[in-house]
Amino acid sequence: MVLSSILEKYQRQPENLIHILLEYQQSKDQNYISEAEVIHISRELNIPESQIYTIMTFYSLFSLTPRGKYIIQVCNDVPCHVQGAADIVEMLEDSLKITMGETTPDGLFTLEYTSCIGCCDKAPAIRIGTEVFGHLTETEISRIITRFRREYDAARE
Ligand code: FES
Repeated sequence: MVLSSILEKYQRQPENLIHILLEYQQSKDQNYISEAEVIHISRELNIPESQIYTIMTFYSLFSLTPRGKYIIQVCNDVPCHVQGAADIVEMLEDSLKITMGETTPDGLFTLEYTSCIGCCDKAPAIRIGTEVFGHLTETEISRIITRFRREYDAARE
């Protein structure tokens, strides 16, 4: 969805800033909001750019630099760490052939760490977009990655 329609949807209300940023970022293949777009949004909502930067730097969901279409966030808080988050990272790195913090050459996946995603009973857990996956195994990771690749391909047909 283009920025103008998202701004329209939220009636250019500054109190909807987080929703606007999130929806716009998710609509972009590279999953980020550029500095030029921050300036544009600040003008459209009539708020200071600093207010937008404060939100974008506070929440790990946001990025000012290009990332993959799907951000795979691996929880590395204590319960997940104890339950093998490091093994999950290794499996993801092997499967995607990238290291933590990198994006796959096709621009589809980025690997990032995150703090607790509220799913400690399913540790080790990861989050992709708004979905959380727990009790992960190598097979499950492979299934999740295949699913997202298929969804992406299907959306482009
Ligand atoms: S510590 Fe990982 S989901 Fe809570």
